Amino acid sequence: MPTFLPTRFAQLASGLTLCSTLSLAPALAQPTKPTAANTLTVQVNKPGAPIAKTMYGLFFEDINFAADGGLYPELVKNKSFELDEHLLGWRGIRGAAALSTYTVSGQQPISATNRHFLRMTAATASPDAGFINEGFRGMGIKQSAEYTFSVYLRRGPGSVSGLNVTLEEDGQRGAGPEAAGSGRVLAQTKITGLTGEWKKYTAVLKASGTAPRARLKLTMEGTGTLDLDVVSLFPKDTWNKRENGLRTDLVQLLKDMNPGFLRFPGGCIVEGRNLTERYQWKETIGDVATRVPLVNRWNMEFKHRSTPDYYQSFGLGFFEYFQLSEDIGAEPVPILNVGMACQFNSAELAPFTGSTAGGPSAPTAPSGHNHADDDPTLETFIQDALDLIEFANGPASSPWGAKRVAMGHAAPFNLKFIGIGNEQWGPQYLERYEPFMKAVKAKYPGINIVSSAGPSPDGELFDKASQRLRELKAEVIDEHYYAKPEWFRQNVGRYDNYPTTGTKIFAGEYAAQSVAIGSPDNKNSWDCAISEAAFMTGLERNADKVIMASYAPLFAHVDAWQWTPDMIWFDNLRSYGTPNYYVQKMYSTNPGTTMLPVQRGENAKNGHDNLFSSAVADDKTGEIIVKLVNYSTEARPVSINLQGVKKLGKTGKATVLASNDLNAVNTLDQPLNVAPKDESFKVGSASVTYTLAPHSFTVLRIPGKR
Ligand code: AHR
Repeated sequence: MPTFLPTRFAQLASGLTLCSTLSLAPALAQPTKPTAANTLTVQVNKPGAPIAKTMYGLFFEDINFAADGGLYPELVKNKSFELDEHLLGWRGIRGAAALSTYTVSGQQPISATNRHFLRMTAATASPDAGFINEGFRGMGIKQSAEYTFSVYLRRGPGSVSGLNVTLEEDGQRGAGPEAAGSGRVLAQTKITGLTGEWKKYTAVLKASGTAPRARLKLTMEGTGTLDLDVVSLFPKDTWNKRENGLRTDLVQLLKDMNPGFLRFPGGCIVEGRNLTERYQWKETIGDVATRVPLVNRWNMEFKHRSTPDYYQSFGLGFFEYFQLSEDIGAEPVPILNVGMACQFNSAELAPFTGSTAGGPSAPTAPSGHNHADDDPTLETFIQDALDLIEFANGPASSPWGAKRVAMGHAAPFNLKFIGIGNEQWGPQYLERYEPFMKAVKAKYPGINIVSSAGPSPDGELFDKASQRLRELKAEVIDEHYYAKPEWFRQNVGRYDNYPTTGTKIFAGEYAAQSVAIGSPDNKNSWDCAISEAAFMTGLERNADKVIMASYAPLFAHVDAWQWTPDMIWFDNLRSYGTPNYYVQKMYSTNPGTTMLPVQRGENAKNGHDNLFSSAVADDKTGEIIVKLVNYSTEARPVSINLQGVKKLGKTGKATVLASNDLNAVNTLDQPLNVAPKDESFKVGSASVTYTLAPHSFTVLRIPGKR
């Protein structure tokens, strides 16, 4: 398997140096009057297109421990012993010396899809007869919080009387990580009443202290044999207090953004390194205990950030993604495999016979699988898409709708979008896309389809894909750009000449890279964030063409990431938004409802002299919203003429994100180093003056109607 360093990444990685030229000095000169070029006319009386409700959204991919170890708060790693390395995440106490034997066995397992369990045998009773689970870079435990412990147990020969369960702080490194009892005990319980049959046991542990890196210790009481499986430790405090719910602080950060959509599950993860390892949504629904884990394609992708213990448990599966979308008020946008493994890896293709154009036949019945190498044809992928739409929207009387209802969601999820393929390119994509799209449209004409323009924002492959997709009357084309900060500022006019009719654009993955794509030295610097803010004025000005946009990737664990930059970083207990997060949030919480044209004096273009702007009307609140980026070391007075505005109020609200240091970042210890601040300002007349801070992104909300 080749290591992931796509051509575009390799090109950028070679020979690029830190791209920001830094100007750290605050402006000393007192701002003077606005120049003609700094005079903006917002044509309130010439409104443009409506702003799509989906305009600013989220891109979620299980990269950087975004799911297991992140948003999905299960604390036990490899809870079912089903990973390729069966004891990954587990270690015997003192090397399991107190056990006479231990093994991962497959004899009479819990179920056909959960085939392995841990069997421990002790000839002599000992407090060290057992195993420790390390969690995902430790377990984050909070004082007074409650955790539900559950396990399946089966007693074998002998007289084992119970299982001791101890949650303890990870020991002093010098004492050896496997040393029993070396850490402070945070909670303890004992499971008793064992039988000779598999049975689920549950207990609630209340933590006596806080620990960012705790571990779970399980020891046998007595002598004999004990089988364990599906070991779980799950916080009770989850989003909406759900049993299989999500981490609250991370969901809150998402909800606070007022996102228009949630794209999931990726990203390259959709494709897999080969087709056997592709993301199969059907494997991710139903009883959590029966979901079979799969290797995460990001585990060894970057040699310099290899993460061999990275798997997908699918505890966060498609049902949970739909539920999350609903919780945060976002349109769900599932992205589906188009019969192509990642083209940066094996580029394996599902055979395409051309026989699928009329659509496949009957829906497949729900069944259990286990990622077997199933040699799928394109029909399999198309059928998966049709079944997914039925799962999301179908009635309880339909086979897949019944699955959703059985999981506790009787109402449809009201799915409106699906993506066909992630970041695909070339003729292999287009020839698969066409029958796929036609089959979906034939059965579900109301579903909007997202198609891919490939990994680069320009070039021959991009042009050919865009042209062909437009010929095919594609509804939404997904464009990706990972580039240097200056690219974002220089390309603010990217969409100015795109056609206003027909195909719309989804800026589906973008982020400014402070060093180069794939570089572990990339930072979520203010330079990157303000450059993205500048670029996004161009998205907003073209909201008749661009209807969706999302920064990527979304999440990263500070101790387990593969890719940087990322919008939100976290450890086991804390999380913070980067400056890029605040830029996104300032757009998504101020989306407006109607685009308003903005003109500058002297016919200066958007971005001229490092001043960027866009405007929208918010017809719901009766406000004009102006977004302004001053990418300059000087404070800059601007004059904003609200042409034709009605019912002007007296006081406006400014939200300002600024730093004199283009290298500034946020951290776990300084999460608000670069964060928005609100202030009010006087409006007075239809000609509003405001002084923009040096290196700032400002959103002005001015009471006034169109
Ligand atoms: O966002 C990280 C990766 O970048 C995505 O998985 C992929 O679609 C793109 O190459």
